[in-house]
Amino acid sequence: MNLPNIKEDRKRENKKTEFIYLNEEYDKNAFKGQKYFIRTYGCQMNVHDSEEISAHLENIGFVKTEEMEDADIVILNTCAIRENAHDKLYGFLGRCKHVKTSTNPNLIIAICGCMAQEENVVNTIMEKHPYVDLVFGTHNICDLEKLLINKTDKQNIEVISCEGNVYENVKYKRDSKFKAWVNIQYGCDKFCTYCIVPYTRGKQRSRKSEDILKEVEELVKDGYLEVTLLGQNVNAYGKDIEGELSFAELLQKVADTGIKRLRFVTSHPWDFTDEMIDVIAKNDNIMNYIHLPLQSGSDRILKLMGRRYTKEEYITLFDKIKNKINNVSITTDIIVGFPNETEEDYNETLDVVNHCEYDSAFTFIYSPREGTPAAKMEDSIKLEEKECRLYKLNELINNYSLKNNKKYVGNTYDVLVEGINDKDSSKVFGYTETMKLVNFVGGEELIGKIVPVKIIDAKSFSLDGEMK
Ligand code: SAH
Ligand code: SF4
Ligand code: F3S
Repeated sequence: MNLPNIKEDRKRENKKTEFIYLNEEYDKNAFKGQKYFIRTYGCQMNVHDSEEISAHLENIGFVKTEEMEDADIVILNTCAIRENAHDKLYGFLGRCKHVKTSTNPNLIIAICGCMAQEENVVNTIMEKHPYVDLVFGTHNICDLEKLLINKTDKQNIEVISCEGNVYENVKYKRDSKFKAWVNIQYGCDKFCTYCIVPYTRGKQRSRKSEDILKEVEELVKDGYLEVTLLGQNVNAYGKDIEGELSFAELLQKVADTGIKRLRFVTSHPWDFTDEMIDVIAKNDNIMNYIHLPLQSGSDRILKLMGRRYTKEEYITLFDKIKNKINNVSITTDIIVGFPNETEEDYNETLDVVNHCEYDSAFTFIYSPREGTPAAKMEDSIKLEEKECRLYKLNELINNYSLKNNKKYVGNTYDVLVEGINDKDSSKVFGYTETMKLVNFVGGEELIGKIVPVKIIDAKSFSLDGEMK
């Protein structure tokens, strides 16, 4: 039993990162014939972690099921970014408890991900949810086989608080046969004052470029068309390893593998270099799409958030990217209602939105996270006011999304087809290089292919097209 500890999570002792090459063997039949159900909340990193968790489970005999009621083990891979992420977990846990008490008393219920690293969550699980069998943290994923093989009837909490290592030889059960996530960096050291991620994911640590390139080369060989490089601050890639490539250099090398579509998330505006812009502009297989989180347009709030750039610096960078990268689409993240955000502060944010005319944005009401500095700030702004600000901001953003999307009408773009449209099975959906969602008439045989599609209509959140 190991409990999470936020004080430990906060520490950055700058110990050298250990690179651990996994090679343990387990009994492949230990859970033969048993089924796992996995539910994932949160960001792409969690989605990719679930692909790793699935591989660990299949390594000891489990097979996947899409029906929770059929499962022998349910894994909930959680997110802690905002309070509503917590609410979602507790809602779903209720369902799991029902299955366990009514139809399947042997069901193993396991919780992992960012919430597992939170002290208050683990305390609540120990006190109020004794039917949960296992809690394991973001640093314990590679122990999953061991934890399950050695499982007893007692609730087990295995959450280590540490700065983190880099594991290699990790196996993934990838959800897609044509697009893949590739971690290039784990953790975060930016400590934005509102954010829980540096505590739940440990220090910022890069993978070695040789290991990243090897992984991408294999994906290309296996027929993958798209790779998205993952990190909380991909621009800071390599800074923590002496003599390592910069992110711009890494991008170039990954592009040279010949992968058809190369993407990356997330770029913090702070470390975005001119060299990076040049590399993106010059390589046709690096997609002209950039997610550039703003958070706020007010210098006063940006400072309180610890974001390390000003409104003016952000706009300068934005303009440079727009000018240098052909037809680039740029999206963002914005938080409204940070403690004591005034009407003027908020208007500064709208001002930036009006300048940048984003292709789209994820917008959030600030949510206090226990243990972060901002959670201790007094806040005089009422929730209704924050909701009103969010509503107005969304209206503005949607207008710009529509305006940008309309520019696509009449032109033809390459679309990577991902699946059948949920609402209309005569249609498929896919994404342009600029990450626009396109729906058009087509069948299953197009899935996993890049096809030219002429855009015939534009909405705020998607485009309609027809195959050329
Ligand atoms: N590393 C990325 C962000 C990852 S978290 C970056 O720095 O840009 C994704 C988004 O969640 C953030 O960009 C932010 O807009 C939002 N977010 C993070 N903490 C939040 C909080 N406490 N309340 C509301 N939104 C938050
Ligand atoms: Fe959170 Fe800031 Fe790190 Fe992004 S850069 S993950 S917002 S602390
Ligand atoms: Fe959520 Fe953790 Fe990602 S808090 S947003 S799952 S890094």
